[in-house]
Amino acid sequence: MYKVEREKLLKQIKKEILDLKKSPLYAERVKNKVYPVIGEGDHFAKIMFVGEAPGKNEAITGKPFCGTSGKILDELLSSVSIKREKVYITNIVKDRPSMNRDPSPDEIEIYGPFLDRQVEIIQPKVIATLGRFSMVYIMKKFGLDFDIQPISSAHGKSFEAETSYGKVKIIPLYHPAAAIYNQHLKETLIKDFKILKKYE
Ligand code: URA
Repeated sequence: MYKVEREKLLKQIKKEILDLKKSPLYAERVKNKVYPVIGEGDHFAKIMFVGEAPGKNEAITGKPFCGTSGKILDELLSSVSIKREKVYITNIVKDRPSMNRDPSPDEIEIYGPFLDRQVEIIQPKVIATLGRFSMVYIMKKFGLDFDIQPISSAHGKSFEAETSYGKVKIIPLYHPAAAIYNQHLKETLIKDFKILKKYE
């Protein structure tokens, strides 16, 4: 699929999300004068990162992972010399759930199909899930229900799945936020990120 076509399809997703009145998070977005976070990065990225949902800074700027978790993600990317512009970064839920609560099953159901379309358009070779929610969503999406384990055992493993455009590797990772106050998890994340280097 050509660059212009990818751009057009991704723009269409943005348009639909901007107008997603059926989402319970839409009214809050309007009330708080914040933005949905669609995703950003290379439309031909080999690696796609999938987080959970935007936090406060992300909703203010419309950019994924630009707050405290984003700083850690940036550090992890530079630890393996992967440029942020070379990957694609998005979330399952595109609007911020208030008070940084976990996304609800309803919210995941509403926003999940947009992530599915982003995967089909960008066609990554690797989907690196950040945190438990995106791991479960992505593994279920690719029929890997029976391989789902707690993130404490799944992190850093690689699961292969078939897509409409070929094979994809799913690599569950801890959410960068988990490393904010936990140096041990940060070291684990640094170690797990090394796996991504060969797919860059
Ligand atoms: N946490 C997420 O899961 N996604 C973001 O974009 C920011 C924080």
